[in-house]
Amino acid sequence: MRVSRPVQFAESVRVQKSAWGQDVSSTIPAHLLIAAQHHGGLVLGAYDGRRMVGVLFGITALDNGRPYHYSHITGVARSHQSKGVGFKLKLAQREHVVKSGQSLVKWTYDPLQGGNAYFNIRKLGATCRTYHRNLYGRLDDSFNRGRLTDRFEVEWHIKNKRLRERIRGLPVSARLRLKGSRLLVEIPRNITRVRDVSLSAANSWTLHDRRIFENYFDRGFSVTDVIVDNDEDRIFYLLNRSTIRESAEFSGKIESSHQHLPGLVRTDQSTLTVTQRD
Ligand SMILES: CC(C)(COP(=O)(O)OP(=O)(O)OC[C@H]1O[C@@H](n2cnc3c(N)ncnc32)[C@H](O)[C@@H]1OP(=O)(O)O)[C@@H](O)C(=O)NCCC(=O)NCCS
Repeated sequence: MRVSRPVQFAESVRVQKSAWGQDVSSTIPAHLLIAAQHHGGLVLGAYDGRRMVGVLFGITALDNGRPYHYSHITGVARSHQSKGVGFKLKLAQREHVVKSGQSLVKWTYDPLQGGNAYFNIRKLGATCRTYHRNLYGRLDDSFNRGRLTDRFEVEWHIKNKRLRERIRGLPVSARLRLKGSRLLVEIPRNITRVRDVSLSAANSWTLHDRRIFENYFDRGFSVTDVIVDNDEDRIFYLLNRSTIRESAEFSGKIESSHQHLPGLVRTDQSTLTVTQRD
């Protein structure tokens, strides 16, 4: 919810300290949040009962005169992380920004923080094409102390079809004209669990992967392996256009049939580069 009372803004400082550590230099003070809330910014709080457990703060920004939303912080109290609170805050932000007539949200994050990479790119469907070297200079919070503050600047195209599919947990549009000789096709980790939550989502996955398998089998590809990425709890088929013997080793370039696969997939046996060519 959009916070409004001074005491709620003060509470949001406590949440920031829980998320980033006690260092005061990296927290946004309540008075600045209040000013922003009244002048084109957005401050949202997430509550567990009456207790604030998550905070999000963004401002309206301009790119060559065109407004977009710049999301400066999203933080969840340590006790409540990885329970879906951050995701709900971002969805609420999306709703507010759509209502205000904008279609783009940007923010930065440390590309070497694996959890944030998963949250921002995979779960939220943000994309990145801008790299900042040492953007903030020195920061003294628990994550950044002593480190260079290089950042990915991500774009969240909130009205985009791919993004809407992603945040609903549906497979995104299939890519059927890939030209490489190997590709990865993702399947849900546990389709029965998906079915139990949403029958239509489970059937969407079947229809989606069916199109991909039929298309690539017709084009001479075979399934030659299964790759389990335990770090991300994801599972992929490896499809190969060469003979089965030749494909026993999987190194080199691999394409992805889903637009949303990450740039890099680590397995126990090797590192696979997933390229994103059509
Ligand atoms: C980043 C943050 C806002 C996310 O909020 P959250 O409530 O923890 O996020 P959610 O629970 O909605 O989603 C996090 C997802 O990442 C996963 N995750 C968490 N840590 C992970 C890690 N190290 N590696 C891979 N995945 C990870 C969670 O399992 C969850 O995925 P799932 O829902 O598919 O299981 C929160 O963790 C936080 O405040 N972190 C510290 C401050 C920070 O870094 N802010 C963000 C700056 S961009």
